[in-house]
Amino acid sequence: MSAGFSFTRGDFPDDFLFGVATSSYQIEGHAYGGAGSTHWDTFAATPGNVYQFHNGDRACDHYHRWPEDLDLMAGAGFDAYRFSTSWARVMPDGKTLNPEGLDFYDRLVDGMLERGIRPFATLYHWELPSALADIGGWRNREIPERFAEFSRATMARLGDRVQATATINEPWCVAWLSHFIGQHAPGMRDIRAAARAMHHVLLAHGLAVQALRAEGIGQLGIVTNLDHAAPADDSEGAARASATYDAIFNQWFLGAAFKKEYPADALIGLEPYLPDGWAQDFDTIASPVDWVGINYYTRKLLADDGTGMFPALVHVPGDLPTTDKGWEIYPEGFEELLVRIQRDYTGEVPIYITENGMANPDIVVDGAVNDQVRIDYLDQHFHAAKRAMEAGVPLKGYFVWSLLDNYEWSYGYDMRFGMVHVDFDTLVRTPKASFLALKEAIRRA
Ligand code: FCB
Repeated sequence: MSAGFSFTRGDFPDDFLFGVATSSYQIEGHAYGGAGSTHWDTFAATPGNVYQFHNGDRACDHYHRWPEDLDLMAGAGFDAYRFSTSWARVMPDGKTLNPEGLDFYDRLVDGMLERGIRPFATLYHWELPSALADIGGWRNREIPERFAEFSRATMARLGDRVQATATINEPWCVAWLSHFIGQHAPGMRDIRAAARAMHHVLLAHGLAVQALRAEGIGQLGIVTNLDHAAPADDSEGAARASATYDAIFNQWFLGAAFKKEYPADALIGLEPYLPDGWAQDFDTIASPVDWVGINYYTRKLLADDGTGMFPALVHVPGDLPTTDKGWEIYPEGFEELLVRIQRDYTGEVPIYITENGMANPDIVVDGAVNDQVRIDYLDQHFHAAKRAMEAGVPLKGYFVWSLLDNYEWSYGYDMRFGMVHVDFDTLVRTPKASFLALKEAIRRA
């Protein structure tokens, strides 16, 4: 018997939204419905990138099973669902509309509304159409313009019914993780590519906001991921490494979108590689947003890597309990970041927690999954969010990552983040203890 959550819906404001999040490539089944090839398909087909070459061809088959998945959400009493729209499903070659793709999202949005679930759309959650990767992907300044057109075309169809729209999910992952660290598609490790992607992803956001506003679409935002960064020891090198990490990870995107600036600690290394005239794009990048999404999972301890080469940092494992992904559990960092982000960047702009959750090697035993560790993790993070609200952070909702076990990028199907277990042979869904406990906690009186 597991212990439930130590809060209820009544502990949060009446209009606070409890939701779950997923993304298109991770659950839909990219082989269905006439979607085009993406850079994740070819990244996964290249040895050394993804656990056992797993890809999103079938994933959770949400493309066909979406009514069952929405029923699960509605049955648990979730107020909102954060989903994403696959660019390559809507435009298989990056520019030509696939009516079947838009029809799918149209049905999905109607399905949410029929069940009383508010649709929160994210336009880009990482699967860039291969045709656009072929012309340089995020390194190419043309991609932001194409993205604005994709955003406009998608929301011309869905915008009358979605409650809120985010442009980009986690620009740090789109740019740095994918072009400097090389852990995500397209798997590049090149500082010039990374600097360009760091800028172009923001330009894409700004151009999309402008294109959507011109169409009369409101409630626009961006979703950033933030880590609590701290020096691993007392040395000056560790302090500098932590500051550099914080600049690249936490300050770059919000700084541009809210203050029209890039942080000095990151510019030191990246300025030589930024595209010409980058500072002139800030007016576009900082087009006003109606809300900001924050994804939070963990903290990072940093030390000097001894190379003397920017960014000259290395992650050092800490001594806190970790999740299956090796991420340390640190809810205090969540509260601290929320307070800081509101103070330094977002001010009165409403914030949503657009992702928070943990990976755990969950197994089904007698038809049940006891993921008490996930209940404890979420419970601590909900409390941290609540403390941030009490400190004045205008937090309006909280989406748990994720509804379903799904394609966890380079970890394939080996990493389970869902509150609902998915058997990847039979595709049977089994609600875990965390799902049932959260249902109980958010029950309307
Ligand atoms: C975030 C991603 C999401 C998922 C979680 C675990 O960085 O947005 O797709 O992979 O991490």
